[in-house]
Amino acid sequence: MVELAQSKGRIIVIDDERGRAEAEATALRKLGYVASTSNIEHALERQREDLAEVAVCHLDGQGLALTRRLTEAGVPVVLTAQELNTEQAVAALRSGARDLVTEPVEEGLLVEALERLCGGLRRDTQRLEWIGESPAMQQLAGIVARVARGDAPVFLCGESGTGKELVANAIHVGGPRHDAPFVAVNCAAVPGSLLESELFGHTRGAFTDARSERRGLFSQANGGTLFLDEIGELPLELQPKLLRALQERKVRPLGSTREIAFDARLITATNSDLELAVREHRFREDLFYRINVVRIDLPPLRDRRSDVLPLAERFLARAAARTGRTVSKLSEAAADRLLAWSWPGNVRELENCMESAVAMAHTDEIQLEDLPARLRESTAVESALPASRIDQLVTLEELNHRYLHRVLRTLSGNKTKTAEVLGIDRRTLYRMLARETAPPPPPP
Ligand SMILES: Nc1ncnc2c1ncn2[C@@H]1O[C@H](COP(=O)(O)OP(=O)(O)OP(=O)(O)O)[C@@H](O)[C@H]1O
Ligand SMILES: [Mg+2]
Repeated sequence: MVELAQSKGRIIVIDDERGRAEAEATALRKLGYVASTSNIEHALERQREDLAEVAVCHLDGQGLALTRRLTEAGVPVVLTAQELNTEQAVAALRSGARDLVTEPVEEGLLVEALERLCGGLRRDTQRLEWIGESPAMQQLAGIVARVARGDAPVFLCGESGTGKELVANAIHVGGPRHDAPFVAVNCAAVPGSLLESELFGHTRGAFTDARSERRGLFSQANGGTLFLDEIGELPLELQPKLLRALQERKVRPLGSTREIAFDARLITATNSDLELAVREHRFREDLFYRINVVRIDLPPLRDRRSDVLPLAERFLARAAARTGRTVSKLSEAAADRLLAWSWPGNVRELENCMESAVAMAHTDEIQLEDLPARLRESTAVESALPASRIDQLVTLEELNHRYLHRVLRTLSGNKTKTAEVLGIDRRTLYRMLARETAPPPPPP
C-alpha cells in the first residue's frame, strides 16, 4: 500500500538550520507523519522526490519566495516564525501561506494546521484501499493528491480495469467537494436516447415516458463531482450539448425552457484512444479540449509488476474474509505464475482471479492448480525453458526482470538485500523497477 495510506500525511520541514528541522521532523514522525527535511535551496526538489503533501517552512531569507513557489506547485505551506508583526504576517499570507505558527512551535497548533491541510488523499486511500508500491503508483498517488485540491476537469486514460474509477473517487474524496455527492455515469451503458435526459433531466411530459419531472445527473452532482466514464462512447449528437453545458455551467432539462446552473467538478475517463476518435471525427475536438485539462494516465498492471503480489495478497484476504475461508497465502509456484502473467484485464482481472482461486483452494495456501486455466497453462519461463518451442523463449531482459522479482519476493521485498544479492546498487535496482517492461504475450 502507498505510504500515504498508512501515515497521517507526508510533510517536508524546511529550515536552513538543520538541527531545528530534524527536531521538528522527529516530533512529527512520532505523531504518525512521514516527515523529511530540507534546506531552503533544495526544498522544491526534495518536496517532489518525497511527494510531500504539506510544507512546514521556517520564515527567513528566501522563505516567502519559496512559499510562493510551493503554493504555485499546489503544496500548501505552514510558515513558522519567531515573532511576526502585522506587516510580516500580511506578506506571509500574500505569498500564499495557509497558516502561521509562532516559534517555539507549539505542537498542538502545528498539528491542527497539518490535519486541516493534509486531509485529502490519506483519508481516501484508507477508505478506498489504494494499493500501489511501484514507483509509477507512488508517483500517481502524489499527482492525485495534488489534483484533488484543485477544480480543473480531469481526464483519466487507461486500459480497462486499471483503476480509473478508483482514482476518480480518490480525487473526489481528497478534495474540497468530498462532502457533496460523487455521481458516476457510464456513457457506454446508457442507451443514447436516454443519456440526454439522464444527464440533463427532463420535465413532466417532455417525451412519452416522462411521467414525472426528473433531475438530471448534473444537478444531482451539484457541489460535488460528476464522473463521466467511457466518455468516448458519448453519441456525436450529444457532444455539443455537453460542451455547451460545460462552458455555460448550466443545463437545460429536456422539455424545459429554463436553464439550471450547476456547480460540479467534471472527471471523465476513457479506455479508448480519444485523440484518434477526434482525428476520425467521432469525437468533437472542442469538447476534447474542454475535458482534457488535467490528464492522468493509469499504467497497465503488466508495466508495474511490483504491484501484482501486494494486490493479490490484499484481494486474497478480502475474498477469504468475505467467504469465511481461512486461505491466507500464495504458494511460490502460484506467485510465480501471477508475476509472469500479462494481465490484459489489469487489476480487475487479478481481483477476479484471486476470488476464484480462494473458492478453489483446498488448503490455506493457494496452489498453482487453483488458478484459472489460462494462467495455469501459460508457461512459467523461469522454471522450464523448452528449447523445442522458440516462441516460449524469452529475452534476457525479460529473464532479468523475472529473476529480479523472484529475488525480491524471496527477500520479502527488501530492496537493500535484493540489490546486494543481485550485485547491483540500490539506485540501479530502483531504476530497473521503474523501467519494467511488458512480457511476451501469453501463448494462445
Ligand atoms: N491500485 C488499486 N488498489 C486496490 N484496488 C484497485 C486498484 N486499482 C484498481 N483496483 C480495483 O480493481 C477494480 C477495477 O478498478 P476500476 O473499476 O477503478 O477500473 P477502471 O479503470 O474503471 O476499469 P473499466 O475501464 O473496466 O471501467 C476495482 O474493484 C478496484 O477497486
Ligand atoms: Mg470504470
